[in-house]
Amino acid sequence: MSDMKHWRIEREADGLAWLVFDKAGESANTLSAEAMRELALALDEFERDPPKGLVIRSGKSAGFIAGADIGEFTQLASAADAKALVERGWTLFNRLAAVRYPTLALIRGHCMGGGTELALACRYRIVVDEPGTRIALPEVMLGIVPGWGGMLRLPRTIGPAAAFDMMLTGRPLSARRARQTGFADECVPPRVMENAARMKVRSGAPPRALPFLQKILNGPLKGLVAAQARKQVVKRARPEHYPAPYAILDMWANHGGNALAVPDGKPTSLDAIAASPTTQNLVRVYYLRERLRGFGKPENNIEHFMPKHLHVIGAGVMGGDIAAWGVLRGLTVTLQDQSIERIAPAIRRAAAAFKKKLRDDAQVRFALDRLIPDPAGQGARRADLVIEAIFEDLETKRALFAGIEAIARPDAVLATNTSSLRLEDIALALKNPSRLIGIHFFNPVAKMPLVEVVEGADSDPAMLKKGLAFVRAIDKLPLPVKSAPGFLVNAVLAPYMQEAMRCLDEGMAPETVDEAALAFGMPLGPIELADTVGLDVVVAAGQQLANAAAPPAKLMERVAAGQLGRKTGRGFYVYDKGKPQKNASGPAPDGLAERLLRPFLDAARRCVEQGVVADADLADAGVIFGTGFAPFRGGPLHYEQERGKGTA
Ligand code: NAI
Repeated sequence: MSDMKHWRIEREADGLAWLVFDKAGESANTLSAEAMRELALALDEFERDPPKGLVIRSGKSAGFIAGADIGEFTQLASAADAKALVERGWTLFNRLAAVRYPTLALIRGHCMGGGTELALACRYRIVVDEPGTRIALPEVMLGIVPGWGGMLRLPRTIGPAAAFDMMLTGRPLSARRARQTGFADECVPPRVMENAARMKVRSGAPPRALPFLQKILNGPLKGLVAAQARKQVVKRARPEHYPAPYAILDMWANHGGNALAVPDGKPTSLDAIAASPTTQNLVRVYYLRERLRGFGKPENNIEHFMPKHLHVIGAGVMGGDIAAWGVLRGLTVTLQDQSIERIAPAIRRAAAAFKKKLRDDAQVRFALDRLIPDPAGQGARRADLVIEAIFEDLETKRALFAGIEAIARPDAVLATNTSSLRLEDIALALKNPSRLIGIHFFNPVAKMPLVEVVEGADSDPAMLKKGLAFVRAIDKLPLPVKSAPGFLVNAVLAPYMQEAMRCLDEGMAPETVDEAALAFGMPLGPIELADTVGLDVVVAAGQQLANAAAPPAKLMERVAAGQLGRKTGRGFYVYDKGKPQKNASGPAPDGLAERLLRPFLDAARRCVEQGVVADADLADAGVIFGTGFAPFRGGPLHYEQERGKGTA
């Protein structure tokens, strides 16, 4: 059909048809309004001349379908526009689900949101067994709901418990998991995928039925299942902050998975979701993440830095975990410390992490093979990148770098993970100080998505580019920052934590202070955060960054008593199996959240004014991904600006 730009129909002699999605001018397939309109045209064509069977696949090497076109969400001017967008997909995929000929989605690579809903509307699904195959309904992460049939069909296909796990968290399924849950009828290697698709669709077999128990859970016991799932959601997100997961449960349990059926005025209606700033802000966060990702992307005509060998010096809390993370992301890592005994605990920790993450003995072995204890530091000679994470002591770091510079490859990046020393002071030890950059990870490395890439006064831009590319290559979000005390993240966190400590000195309960921050939407209250970071670390950061006239008294008392927080089982809270034992707090007093956040917001603004980060959006991005600052608020500076307008 000549009037289709994004889809291609290929008919085979025996009556089978292939519908290939290959979005014009783009590297990934997104279901834009135009792509959806053309899909309807393709269905018209198949109505006129029905195939014996239809296979839908992607024409892109990047993956199957990346989801709806998120750019179109930002242009929705009203709730009516949002409803029209939902209705378009709901109606079209219902039409696809109702066709008489057998349909099959052949999924290779990512399959997200609307792509998953399209696949669910087919009679069969085959997934290709590759690490890149990932199937998800991540709408909830944007504050919206899978309104194109996902809420109706996913629970019918894999049962409600597994469906909620996907829809309420956005977590993806791997190809094998997709087969195990019943999302996919088959999971096949790439070389047989086309034949497997042909055979399946030609079989004309009825769609896979849900096991009996799952059918009951998805039918008569719906109310009970929804109530259970709601309990889990309540633990993670408050409805006033994140309406979407609550809406998903209500739409499934009470409205047949049809978002359009919820009456206006209900807090779970599309009207209410469209009116809440959460969606706009989460879409903003999505773009901020993409912007950070972009920093490490290959540039045209410049040979891209693809690190293969990382050398880490210091096998402590940070170095050990950085090494393990690098291995999990495919690098070979040599890990150096003063002795093999100091390296052994890091290897044990890594082995446990690999076991948990990889779940396959052979993969765990391959990973451990790539993590090489290196007490003599021989790896520094061959590495593409050297990261130093030893004690926070200037002279020791200087001596170390002088030695490393002498043996490292001339093109290797030299980086320090220091939190508090000046990059320029460390670089003085080098013959060529421009080689040194900062690559500042956060603790715990595996959980924190952000890594600050620090530019010192002398840092070579080419080294910085390599540093950014490295961070991207290991699947973290790189944030370029200038060398300044605390960089961005610690510079905003320290004054905030100090203010929280002052509240304790005034006699407030830790629970009250934490509740104020939680009610604002922070993932963790500042007191529990201090306990988690370690109270000794908080004291050190306070001395360096918060300009406190006198250190907070209660904090100093705890440290003097050796109660350093979670790691010692006791700080401001007592920990039982790693969980803080909190008393009921009741609502926090008016104005307390404001008071706690003021130093936080001021520090973020200062970082922009002083050029630590290039602009306000990057400050927001860094603070969200580096501290967990309430994502639905869109970032501290965005929040301040919106509040100024009266919309936050
Ligand atoms: P740590 O005390 O857990 O580990 C330091 C390791 O370095 C020890 O195993 C020690 O034996 C080794 N080491 C000391 N001198 C050495 C030398 N000359 N050669 C080889 N190994 C040597 O320290 P941690 O917490 O991992 O911190 C390391 C660095 O990371 C510091 O610069 C710190 O500022 C920075 N950092 C720490 C964070 C944290 O939360 N702990 C967060 C971000 C950065």
